[in-house]
Amino acid sequence: MIPAELIKKKRGGMELSETEIKTFVNGYVLGSVADYQMSAFLMAVYFRGMTKKETWSLTQAMLHSGTVVNFGDSTLRVDKHSTGGVGDKTSLIIAPIVAAAGIQVPMISGRGLGHTGGTLDKLESIPGFDVWLDLVKFQTQVKKLGACFIGQTKEICPADKKMYALRDVTGTVECIPLICASIMSKKLAEGIDGLVLDVKTGAGAFMKSKAAAQNLAKNLIEVGELGGKKVVALVTDMSQPLGNAIGNSLEVEECLETLSGRGPADLRELSIELSAHMILLGKKAKNILAARTLAKELLDTGAALTRFKEIVRAQNGNLDNLPKAKFVYEVLASRKGFVRAVQAEQIGIASLLLGAGRMRADDKIDHSAGIVVHKKVSDKVEKGEVIATLYYNTGDSLEKASQLVKEAVLISLQKVKRPRLIIKVMK
Ligand code: URA
Repeated sequence: MIPAELIKKKRGGMELSETEIKTFVNGYVLGSVADYQMSAFLMAVYFRGMTKKETWSLTQAMLHSGTVVNFGDSTLRVDKHSTGGVGDKTSLIIAPIVAAAGIQVPMISGRGLGHTGGTLDKLESIPGFDVWLDLVKFQTQVKKLGACFIGQTKEICPADKKMYALRDVTGTVECIPLICASIMSKKLAEGIDGLVLDVKTGAGAFMKSKAAAQNLAKNLIEVGELGGKKVVALVTDMSQPLGNAIGNSLEVEECLETLSGRGPADLRELSIELSAHMILLGKKAKNILAARTLAKELLDTGAALTRFKEIVRAQNGNLDNLPKAKFVYEVLASRKGFVRAVQAEQIGIASLLLGAGRMRADDKIDHSAGIVVHKKVSDKVEKGEVIATLYYNTGDSLEKASQLVKEAVLISLQKVKRPRLIIKVMK
């Protein structure tokens, strides 16, 4: 295989064979294909796209670049994956609900990306929490407690790890075949039987339009099915943050509230709905109504909270000492009316500026920094009322962050309808 010839073929819009894709990806992992050649290939795919067959070949090449977890028994295992959002913390709520329902959830998660948060960063805000268990310990905990949260170890899809880092800096992230292969290779490596996808759409999501999100969902489902997995996708709203808290330890606190049967209504609703679809895939309920009832029961009786605490303890975390920011700053409403928008991307960027996210891959996160929004779309607001609280330790970017938050919350005189949270369920 001559890398430049293969790149030219894709650049010309021709279909690559399974062998060509496999050889190219393996060459990249082993070092015979250079970063600049993979970058050119990714850009060619960005502009030319991939056929269903090519996307599947790429997924398989990435999947088999590393280990595929094999639990060695026929127990049903189900996971959830979100395409990423602001304040999206459902993994910490869902995994214990579904585990308490008797289904195993092997969860391999990622870090924050751009303005979006990542499950690993949220978990690492819990003092001591270890996200780097090896695959043997991972499997043991999944079998014992029903769930385990880890990061993408070096054995899992090394091709994706390398390619993703390159995509991040070459403007090739927002590309459906590349996103599909990246997400599905990692999920297929977990040893699952079923997957529930939360495909976000709106200003705070990578897929801004509903049509693009539905197209991504359709492609993800197709790849999952080619991999022999049952996949359900929920297309959900990310025009405003999910829940009220944005920022790592603030989000963990909100998860504890939600696991205690309280918490913001939208976060509770989405957590129940995603859990219900997982419970259905795990065959622990006859229909979606029964699955929803079971998910609510596990939340409201405290069973899911107990399971979450067990998981945290097993991974050496201590929930008694969540980090707290030294300073707070309140953003006030400049007029009275009804909230028309809480623009998720700006809120995500403001939180990142306060230290809750990374500007560069090697930046250190301030786990206690972030934002709590007190108003959501359609809420009534009085002039001078607190619409958001900013939590921070160094004031370097406070002015810029608070300005962004002020601009992100739009208020109108007319009453505004609450956006639909769950836009579509696709199978
Ligand atoms: N998340 C992933 O893991 N990969 C992508 O390409 C996009 C989001």
